[in-house]
Amino acid sequence: MTKTLAELRSRRWFAASDMRAFAHRQRAQQMGLRREDVLERPIIAVINTWSDLSPCHAHLRERAEAVKKGVLMAGGYPLELPAMSLGEVMVKPTTMLYRNFLAMEVEELLRSLPVDGAVLLAGCDKTTPGTVMGAISMDLPAIFCPAGPMLNDRYLRRGEPARTVGAGTHTRMFWDELQAGRIDPAEWIDLERHMTRSPGTCNTMGTASTMTSIVEALGLALPGSTAIPAMDAGHVRMATTCGERAVGLVWQDLRPSRLLDRGSFLNAAATMMALGGSTNAAIHLIAMARRAGVALSLDDLDRLGREVPVLANLFPAGDRLMEDFHFAGGLPALMNRIRDRLVLDRPTVTGRTLGDNIASREALDDEVIRPLDRPVSANGALAVLRGNLAPEGAVIKASAASPQLLRHRGRALVFDSQPQMQAAMNDDSLDVDETTVLVLRNAGPVGAPGMPEWGNLPIPRKLLKRGVRDMVRISDARMSGTHYGSCVLHVSPESAVGGPLALVQTGDWIELDVPARRLQLMVDDAQLARRRAAWTPPQQPYVRGFTRLYQQHVTQAHEGCDFDFLQGTAPTPEPAIY
Ligand code: FES
Repeated sequence: MTKTLAELRSRRWFAASDMRAFAHRQRAQQMGLRREDVLERPIIAVINTWSDLSPCHAHLRERAEAVKKGVLMAGGYPLELPAMSLGEVMVKPTTMLYRNFLAMEVEELLRSLPVDGAVLLAGCDKTTPGTVMGAISMDLPAIFCPAGPMLNDRYLRRGEPARTVGAGTHTRMFWDELQAGRIDPAEWIDLERHMTRSPGTCNTMGTASTMTSIVEALGLALPGSTAIPAMDAGHVRMATTCGERAVGLVWQDLRPSRLLDRGSFLNAAATMMALGGSTNAAIHLIAMARRAGVALSLDDLDRLGREVPVLANLFPAGDRLMEDFHFAGGLPALMNRIRDRLVLDRPTVTGRTLGDNIASREALDDEVIRPLDRPVSANGALAVLRGNLAPEGAVIKASAASPQLLRHRGRALVFDSQPQMQAAMNDDSLDVDETTVLVLRNAGPVGAPGMPEWGNLPIPRKLLKRGVRDMVRISDARMSGTHYGSCVLHVSPESAVGGPLALVQTGDWIELDVPARRLQLMVDDAQLARRRAAWTPPQQPYVRGFTRLYQQHVTQAHEGCDFDFLQGTAPTPEPAIY
């Protein structure tokens, strides 16, 4: 033990002999706590992102009880603190607009209240980086308790073999089939009952599972915890252990600043590549690293994307789901396969090193966790592109793109807004063919605002009917981690702040060369300079409120989209207690 009872942070509120501390103890007793509960135990915040509109977190109220049991068994006292739930599908215009809001809320909850450590209950896409960013900045001992993926579902059609279906990826697949007339409207409506069989996060290797896995790889979650299905009894046991462990972290004073360094973030990035993880991770990883004072760049991610093959055979890059991954050994087994790429001596919340955590954790199914000599994709999970169209970088999920489109030249068809694009896609007279490069702008952090997941631009209906299922698409938006296709994303700087995407015109030639990492607008510099001189920024209707704050302070995609005033490790004083 490195910390004593007298050194607990919560004693600043409860242990003094003045009138203010009397009031704190009095109010704690009003809630049914005993005097010794606040004076003789570490107080653990159970940060809970549950809400009635967050289906992925529907079980987190019960899981919070399991966490509390663990805290009590270890001699701590748990207090549940609700935080913004950010259910990915229901929150508009996009949860990304509120990731920094959640991060601020978690940091300030922990700062303003008498707590010594925290368990973070989250899992739906932005809730993981949001809670972790806040916890890193507050730097109290904290453990992440992942919500866990929903159960696999099966879809049966008479006369056809059963299909295992999961959330997100299959919705897009069936939608394209509907647009192409290959399934009828009645079957489409029937599909509403499928794919989301239980509470829990999306069960593909979408953003949710990518981010929870990254947090486990950082050493902030228990080994193997992220792949445990939300409805598995093992998930309840894992939650109890999180509570128990949180108390140990307080006594050992194992804060994020003592666990995280550049090696930890490179471990997380390498793991993300082996998972074939979501492109969204490129933004969140950089944002989390900057909170920890670690320099991590898109170039680091590109290098690891070249070096680490995709081994996890999971949708959308593969054809299995998270439940299969859990049975195959989960993240420790995957990380053990790439252990030569990892910094094994990083400390973790278990109190042991990463190397100790993954030692002897073997993959139990080589079809789900592929061996190094038989990867799912040789293309790499993520490639970073640069060129005159993306001076600060853009990303593509090469493993989920069509191989024949990784080198492509085509004429641009440009849309200035999502509604304009959406209307055009259903226009059968649209001047487009499969070689066209679809371009969407004003969809970045400032422009949209919030950088929504519009980057998987739909294929025009008339091409869907002809059997086209993929085209090169370019935007300053993000793409859902459950989606797939040859989509160039996160073009930085974005068009709304004058990035070159703002200068593209319909009919311009664009060259994409993923092996060479190039994204080039084939327009000469003099012509671009004339267009720039004539460019004016789009009008923004937000003159007050959080969105106004967001637009004034959000950084660009290659910088993590954090607020400029939240990055870094400059200390914030503890609150005065009077
Ligand atoms: Fe919550 Fe996908 S919608 S994890």
